[in-house]
Amino acid sequence: MRVLGIDIGGSAIKGAPVDTATGRHLAGRFRIETPLQLSPVEMAEAAGMIGAHFRWRGPVGIGFPGVVHGGTILTSANLDKKFIGCDAQELFSKALGRPVAITNDAAAAGLAEMKFGAGRRFAGKALMLTLGTGIGSVLFFRGALFPCELGHLQMDGRDAERRVSAAARRRKGLTWKQWGRRLSLYVGTLEDLFWPELIIIGGGVSAKHDRFFKYITTRARLVPAEFLNEAGIVGAALWAEQERRS
Ligand code: BGC
Repeated sequence: MRVLGIDIGGSAIKGAPVDTATGRHLAGRFRIETPLQLSPVEMAEAAGMIGAHFRWRGPVGIGFPGVVHGGTILTSANLDKKFIGCDAQELFSKALGRPVAITNDAAAAGLAEMKFGAGRRFAGKALMLTLGTGIGSVLFFRGALFPCELGHLQMDGRDAERRVSAAARRRKGLTWKQWGRRLSLYVGTLEDLFWPELIIIGGGVSAKHDRFFKYITTRARLVPAEFLNEAGIVGAALWAEQERRS
């Protein structure tokens, strides 16, 4: 199936048509920078521009950085608070003039990695973390997906994502070693709770995994995401395909 995958992030919204049988982009991605916080209506307009760019007439999948139940957004830690309570499925479907399926961004990224990337053919317990503006998280067992919000676990009195996201490393000017050690403590806590056999680290920073994986102590097999930053687009498309079939 050909699906337009759209990934909404803290600093940009990007999309590309995806072949869901291979996980490949069918055209170069289109990216719109969002240096200022966009309101839900403005974000939907930006998504509409992505649809128009590709003259898209097919199904659309969207990944959003917050809790999504059905088509409704329940949290928005790093984007405009007006997203909270917003019926995003309706808003984005109208803006794109197409039916839209929406899910959490990390859940989408996880789908892509489990189907085509670092977790393919793995049926045991897997945890994927995306390290970017925030921390996204999703669990898999025997291929079933469970979106979760582990970036908001408390660490020294604050949300873990304030201390160990990729943005936190840059903001605080931490060395790879300092950051890697913090990450190790965080991963250790998650390990004690979930005992994953495989941990996949995604987000742009996973391209530099050789700088910080050495500081992370874990019982699980620790691997970088294979899609790096593109998993969100591919996974959003996979989500829309799944929704159509269910
Ligand atoms: C949000 C998650 C999201 C993650 C990565 C967190 O702040 O609560 O839903 O997956 O950031 O974007």
